[in-house]
Amino acid sequence: MTPKPLVPHVRPADLNPDRLPQHVAVIMDGNGRWAKRRGLPRIMGHRRGVDTLKTLLRVCRDWGIGALTAYAFSTENWGRPLEEVDFLMTLFERVLRQELMEMMAENVRIRFVGNLTALPASLQAEIDQAMAKTKDNQGIEFTVATNYGGRQEIVEACRRLADQVQRGDLQPDDISEERFSQQLYTAGLRDPDLLIRTSGEMRISNFLLWQLAYAEIYVTETLWPDFDLTEFHQALMAYQGRERRFGKVNV
Ligand code: IPE
Ligand code: IPE
Ligand code: MG
Repeated sequence: MTPKPLVPHVRPADLNPDRLPQHVAVIMDGNGRWAKRRGLPRIMGHRRGVDTLKTLLRVCRDWGIGALTAYAFSTENWGRPLEEVDFLMTLFERVLRQELMEMMAENVRIRFVGNLTALPASLQAEIDQAMAKTKDNQGIEFTVATNYGGRQEIVEACRRLADQVQRGDLQPDDISEERFSQQLYTAGLRDPDLLIRTSGEMRISNFLLWQLAYAEIYVTETLWPDFDLTEFHQALMAYQGRERRFGKVNV
């Protein structure tokens, strides 16, 4: 089946194309509440959430945003009911399989970050295939954080560096911010400029602890399945209204 051609989304005229975030990160929160409000099982919210993410990826691409990173499953999310966890793992696998052809057609480079070895083997296989197939694509860089934990990522980076030191390949003094970043799952990916969290929670929930050091944070009450183009436009307008100082004084 050939993916049907999609009409590109036109970037709203009030957005300054020169001041768009290069990398947007999203904490896709509120699927469960979305479903609950409708008297539906939580999993229905996750299913709808996939549509939101697909649309957002396309909009980012069409509006000229080079990278999108989405938090799909945290290391803490294993603590949810088994039924929900199983559903999510199966959902990720199915969506990946269904979307791979379209991602190829749209030149998307997909990458997964997190402790992937703890995921079901069949999901790992889909992930490996999707990453390998799309690795040379030059379009939008799409990163999915799955079984991701910011603290775990940092601890793993420390372990790898300690190992290099122990083998005599690295001097402790040579551990710099750059070198440290290279040991993170996100090596090679620029830090997010904008972090969006849906459903009103004012927390990071162990997401990209290192990488978000200077990201602008935008929180909306809107639940993830309802996060649409208009909402994204508002987030970008808010971002463009911010003054990013990076600790300096603007004169
Ligand atoms: C986010 O929605 C999706 C995942 C964590 C996988 P939630 O499932 O956390 O939805 P709420 O926060 O319970 O509404
Ligand atoms: C963060 O949402 C994780 C994902 C969106 C995948 P959670 O719903 O798990 O976060 P908390 O529990 O509200 O902090
Ligand atoms: Mg939640």
